Amino acid sequence: MNVDTDIVTLTRFILEEQQKYAPTATGELSLLLNSLQFAFKFIAHNIRRAELVNLIGISGTANSTGDVQKKLDVIGDEIFINAMKSSNNVKVLVSEEQEDLIVFEGGGRYAVCTDPIDGSSNIDAGVSVGTIFGIYRLDDSSTGSIRDVLRRGTEMVAAGYTMYGASAHLMLTTGFGVNGFTLDTQLGEFILTQPNLKIPNKKAIYSVNEGNSYYWPDNFKKYIEDLKKPQDELKGKPYSARYIGSMVADIHRTLLYGGIFSYPGDSKSKNGKLRILYECFPMAMLMEQAGGAAVNDKGERILELLPKGIHDKSGIWLGSKGEVDRFLTYL
Ligand code: AHG
Ligand code: MN
Ligand code: MN
Ligand code: MN
Repeated sequence: MNVDTDIVTLTRFILEEQQKYAPTATGELSLLLNSLQFAFKFIAHNIRRAELVNLIGISGTANSTGDVQKKLDVIGDEIFINAMKSSNNVKVLVSEEQEDLIVFEGGGRYAVCTDPIDGSSNIDAGVSVGTIFGIYRLDDSSTGSIRDVLRRGTEMVAAGYTMYGASAHLMLTTGFGVNGFTLDTQLGEFILTQPNLKIPNKKAIYSVNEGNSYYWPDNFKKYIEDLKKPQDELKGKPYSARYIGSMVADIHRTLLYGGIFSYPGDSKSKNGKLRILYECFPMAMLMEQAGGAAVNDKGERILELLPKGIHDKSGIWLGSKGEVDRFLTYL
């Protein structure tokens, strides 16, 4: 009987990381990550029940980037805000579903940027959605303002997502690689299932909404068309196209299998659709920590962008380093 009697839960992992990497750590990030963990469990619980308790469908409102808000967008947002508020470690919160910054009372020393439900347009069809987050530590002199989040992605201390699929899957980086955890609903614990995850350096999969290709610049069109031709290194086979339409699900597949994901800017939306603070930065940090790469439409490193507004967008190309390098030759 092979029972693993020494499983690594997220809570244990966080404490071990705290001891291993930052002997001066105050434990505040550990407490924040545990509050995040609760938010993911509670959102997962509501997503699983959504069809049973009429949580599918739209809420009848729109958010500041013009997205129609689904009921689960609003519920996920409220769950997340309450979890961050009660952690007493968060001072500033940016959410896709909140027009303005939220500044909490108390002495929290972290700023959190979140997309509470990513992929919500697919939610009624049962497609995997997820919660994306990025975390900054406030400068010692800061009392909590928009300056704590209008910063380069390189200043994030942690980032990741939880995808609510067949199981809830958390991908987390605290700047020392990427680790994957799976929620065991019986135990109520996220269990370490993919330690020190690395993305394959090359993989013949591209992931982009080609419905926008009429509006792309010619060099983006040529790059994608060339992937569809017989490839010498694939013994004459072309690349495969895979596009789910939920960034979390498309990125999860890209991290595990390799390939390249893109949401480029085009002639109708110069900066594309994905928001820098709570979609591009967290996914770029994960990709780089897993050995991949993430650039904008000009080939600049995503993490070095400096957002001017909390809902700013950027075109993005990210995934296997070998695949991003191939894209860069078309710029
Ligand atoms: P959100 O549901 O948080 O608004 O994000 C949706 C995003 C992202 O999940 C996905 O990659 C992209 O929208 C898909 O956009 P298209 O439907 O235009 O391809
Ligand atoms: Mn949205
Ligand atoms: Mn999103
Ligand atoms: Mn969203």
